[in-house]
Amino acid sequence: MITKNGKTIHLTGRGMSYIMVENDDGDLLHFHFGRRLPDCDYADMADEWTEGLGPISNMASLDVYPQEYPAYGYTDLRRPAYGVTRESGGFVSRLRVREYKIREGTAAVDGMPCLFGGGKKAQTLEAVLCDDDIGLNVSLFYTVFDEYDIVARCAVITNRSEEDMTLNSAFSSSLDLPIGNYEMLHLSGTWGRERDIVRTPLKSGIKAEASNARGGSGHQINPFAAIAEAGAEEESGEVYGFSLIYSGNHCTAAEVDQFGFLRVMQGINPFGFQKKLSPGEAFCTPQSVLCYSDEGFGKMSREYHDVYRNNLMRGKWANEPRPVLINNWEGTYYDFTEDKLLKIAKSARGLGIDLFVLDDGWFGKRNSDNRSLGDWTVNYEKLPSGIDGLAEKINGLGMKFGLWIEPEMVNPDSELFRSHPDWIVRTADREPAQIRNQYILDLSRGEVCEYVINAVSAVLKGANIEYIKWDMNRQMTDMPYLGYNHEYTLGFYRVVSAVTEKFPNVLFEGCSAGGGRFDPGVLAYMPQIWASDNSDAVSRLKIQYGTSMCYPVSAISTHVTASPNHQCGRNTSLKTRGDTAYAGTFGYELDVTNLTDEERAEVKEQIAAYRRLQPLVREGDLYRLQSPFEGNYCSWEIVSRDRKSAFLFACKILALAQSKDARLRMRGLDENKTYVERTSKKRFSGALLMNRGIKIPYAMSDFATVTMEFEAEE
Ligand code: DGJ
Repeated sequence: MITKNGKTIHLTGRGMSYIMVENDDGDLLHFHFGRRLPDCDYADMADEWTEGLGPISNMASLDVYPQEYPAYGYTDLRRPAYGVTRESGGFVSRLRVREYKIREGTAAVDGMPCLFGGGKKAQTLEAVLCDDDIGLNVSLFYTVFDEYDIVARCAVITNRSEEDMTLNSAFSSSLDLPIGNYEMLHLSGTWGRERDIVRTPLKSGIKAEASNARGGSGHQINPFAAIAEAGAEEESGEVYGFSLIYSGNHCTAAEVDQFGFLRVMQGINPFGFQKKLSPGEAFCTPQSVLCYSDEGFGKMSREYHDVYRNNLMRGKWANEPRPVLINNWEGTYYDFTEDKLLKIAKSARGLGIDLFVLDDGWFGKRNSDNRSLGDWTVNYEKLPSGIDGLAEKINGLGMKFGLWIEPEMVNPDSELFRSHPDWIVRTADREPAQIRNQYILDLSRGEVCEYVINAVSAVLKGANIEYIKWDMNRQMTDMPYLGYNHEYTLGFYRVVSAVTEKFPNVLFEGCSAGGGRFDPGVLAYMPQIWASDNSDAVSRLKIQYGTSMCYPVSAISTHVTASPNHQCGRNTSLKTRGDTAYAGTFGYELDVTNLTDEERAEVKEQIAAYRRLQPLVREGDLYRLQSPFEGNYCSWEIVSRDRKSAFLFACKILALAQSKDARLRMRGLDENKTYVERTSKKRFSGALLMNRGIKIPYAMSDFATVTMEFEAEE
């Protein structure tokens, strides 16, 4: 709900308040983001910041005020939320409130995905700020939902002057938090080790930045960060989440100022960004979703999971049971024939698998990664019946058929590149870099986007394809001008929104050399994303745990692969691999024709278990119990919304002689209910499970995992 009381604007969610006040000079000051406050006018408290200061107070300096969208140069000398240079060279700006508009529903973000209402009560505030001296308008949009503790923010910056202006930075959100002792948590990594949790104390004078300029949102830094009061834990402490709905270069920056206030900003990375605004032209930032939790990181994550499941992920698959799939990549890589694929599919069908996915290598002359991207016609030497014929045969086995594609890319050795060598991202004066032997198609150009939309559509129309894995395997180099990455990102959204709208029944899975584009922008169109090329169950503990900070488990693709693992050589049991993969969109990625009879029986049981667990994975509340970043154990729990069912996963990573394990205390259950554990049939009260905890029966081996399913008695 949004209310205006005098000079106070009050945004409320389920349990939080976000309050801003306008001072007598028309500056829009930040007042409070945290637990719910009464609805009244707080404007007379806006001046409290100058109290007790030395001579600086005589300057009425904006440097001492918390602000909603700080400008640079007019007395606030901290990092600004935007930077603009006029043709004449001036770069000082100051915004004052012109008007407020409050409307029902969510905001629209030009050309980019954003939260939608999804039948929930939402309101949007537009605070129109102006710098009349230079002819600049900034509209700040804030969307709140009655049932969430989130504020979704974006800004539209318009040149109202007669001269050209250059936008040098334009953050989506800026938040000035009160003096405190804070830490920043961000998700950092690399290929095969995506989304490690990193916590950094923020001290006076420290600037911390979690940013990425690699083209996509990246393996290295995810467009998510949380600011927590020092010492906040999974279930305690105040935490502020920042999640950017964006798939290009991004930045979340934090700075502790001279007094100990913390300024946090999130948006497009200013490095490499620039946008010329002609008179009358406007620029819209992506949406940044801020979340407040007074119960630690766990509550923040559950909030993001809910919001993204209900109000970001679109299309029929967002909340549908997903098929259990088998992907041939780690089973065959490029080395397959139709016969071999059909053998795998048949064997997989016998195990109860629903969907067969043909990965890279089916098109052009593709037998390695050095050619044919762009030539999306079948390689008849490998697949004599074509994709349509193969799909028909797979369908004949009672399975759905899915296909891999990497439509944003081209190899120099391809018909597409030979016909359109000018369609790639490059500068005029230098040979463009090849990464994985490929170039990126220039999606800032309308005709190239059209080509990609048509190429993917032709593939989809050519056969009964019910799933697409949309890959993207390189970083962006050779960008022709500052701000190019944003134009590319808009082109990417143009393409994926056209394709996903055209084929609403197809299930799309995002992928980028593993988990290199795991972001809310992709999630808006593709309800599941391949989390990492590292499919080793033990590595996955951290990858999945870190990813769950912001993203729902139903969005995290998890596959059981062969042992020893292909990425790190580790041997793990089939049980460990399956148990770890349950908390995600489950599938297999190995040559199942090699499984022994015992293994086949175990896989059948795993699939049956996953089908039981799938409603929890799709809709349940995730509780992280033990962090693999902090010790030898990793455990999590998913509880149904009605608290009647729960799934517990626990792993003791390395075996230890003569050791006892602490009891595990569950969370999110109903203390007054009695739960029956499915395998042992033992009965436990919710109070015992949560307040005393239970002993986990780990086997005596490395990587020992245990799963338990609890159902409440009627
Ligand atoms: C990278 C993906 O992450 C893999 O799963 C696989 O699809 C390869 N690309 C294929 O080239």
